[in-house]
Amino acid sequence: MNTKLSETSNFLKKKMAGRTPQVGIVLGSGLGDFAEKIEDRLEITYEEIPHFHETTIKGHTGKLIIGKIAGAEVAVFQGRYHFYEGHPIDEVVLPVRVLAHLGIKQLILTNASGGINSSYVPGDLVCITDHINLTGVNPLIGTNNEQLGVRFPDMSEAYNHKLNSLLFESAKEMNINLKAGVYAGLLGPSYETPAEIKMLGILGADLVGMSTVLESIAANHAGLQVCGISCITNLAAGISKEKLNHDDVKDVANMAMSHFTSLLELAVSKICKN
Ligand code: HPA
Repeated sequence: MNTKLSETSNFLKKKMAGRTPQVGIVLGSGLGDFAEKIEDRLEITYEEIPHFHETTIKGHTGKLIIGKIAGAEVAVFQGRYHFYEGHPIDEVVLPVRVLAHLGIKQLILTNASGGINSSYVPGDLVCITDHINLTGVNPLIGTNNEQLGVRFPDMSEAYNHKLNSLLFESAKEMNINLKAGVYAGLLGPSYETPAEIKMLGILGADLVGMSTVLESIAANHAGLQVCGISCITNLAAGISKEKLNHDDVKDVANMAMSHFTSLLELAVSKICKN
């Protein structure tokens, strides 16, 4: 793993030619258009990056973009790897580990999710305050890589309180009604059954999706401060009578794009000044 990681980060360091991004961002389903806001950009496709593969999901273009958002230098992954695509778990979390290796200290994970909490409506943006990892896997399984982090990383502030408060501060200034919630991360790729959604609600989940939790674990392990923004693209199975499909997920995420963009831009500038 370390050799892979070093090869990938050495390649990127060369490409970046002295640029030092401060904040990392992973863009989720339908949220990739945020990348158009990045100025002074250097684009590197996943195909070019050693040990990265093309993503297989519609709505996920595989690119790393280094550039400026609100004057702050960022590294943005447009398109992520999901475990359900069949990638080995080390590859799913490789982008996050590469960011840590490049010296980035803060990571913003974004995703599309289904709303379980009855106060959510499609298009809402939610600050992820905590997660429940129900994927049945963990990226830290196996011999611990001491160079990355400790064997038993603390997860009591998996979503950093300071970063969360900067998200809420930004939302307030932008007049955006940012909600808060616990994200249940499932393996997918089938959507949940109504019975599963009922169970998740009882377990304390407010929203559900198929990403983020593995990245968050790897990032916390590597000592990154993490926060998460989710776009509620649909009410989860059984909460609404509508059938679920990925095209609707992308369409709603696109509709929420202007709020999402304003929130993320302001939050990045606050996080960098912090
Ligand atoms: N369930 C799981 N993942 C999702 C959903 C959902 O309802 N919506 C968007 N991603």
